[in-house]
Amino acid sequence: MDIDLIAQELEQTGYIVLANALPAELLHGLQKRCEDDGSERFQPAHVGRGAAKQQIRSLRGDVISWIEADDPVDRSFLEQMETLRRELNARLFLGMFDYESHYAIYNSGQGYAKHSDVLQGKKNRILTTVLYLNEDWQPEHGGELVVYDPSGESELLRVQPTFGTMIIFLSESFPHEVLVSNTTRRSIAGWFRVSGS
Ligand code: OGA
Ligand code: MN
Repeated sequence: MDIDLIAQELEQTGYIVLANALPAELLHGLQKRCEDDGSERFQPAHVGRGAAKQQIRSLRGDVISWIEADDPVDRSFLEQMETLRRELNARLFLGMFDYESHYAIYNSGQGYAKHSDVLQGKKNRILTTVLYLNEDWQPEHGGELVVYDPSGESELLRVQPTFGTMIIFLSESFPHEVLVSNTTRRSIAGWFRVSGS
């Protein structure tokens, strides 16, 4: 990854889209890990928190599996993100102290309505990353990520979830949505966080 370029784009526009963001071997390992084998490793994602926590399939249709350091492939992904965290902190003084991430699978017919990644009353998410793990993705599969300007009114860009593409953006600044996918769509969503609430 070209850290200087990432830092520059985050500073100037608040987002960057990278192709081939990680080594091919790691991407293939991650793709294999992003398979729902029916063992309940993947669970429906929830929208909202606390008492308001609900499972609203019409808003958010993915099943997710949080990434822990107990699998070698997951660990090497987390190591790469740890390097990114340290190097971006050194350049942008963001004070990011950790990274949380999960695999996500959207089955055909699922998407994620327009939302912000910064949860109400919990502003510790600083940078969002989404890495896509779909080989042979075609435009007619839908499933694009649509990123809006901070007002949420105008569309800034669309990202195809193609294998090895990663978007990084300032979590608080960009509402976004996942258009309904017509086929299985795999990704890893993650957030660099600062400490405290
Ligand atoms: C999310 C999200 C975007 C994507 O998980 O919060 O917005 O393209 N994901 O998968
Ligand atoms: Mn999001």
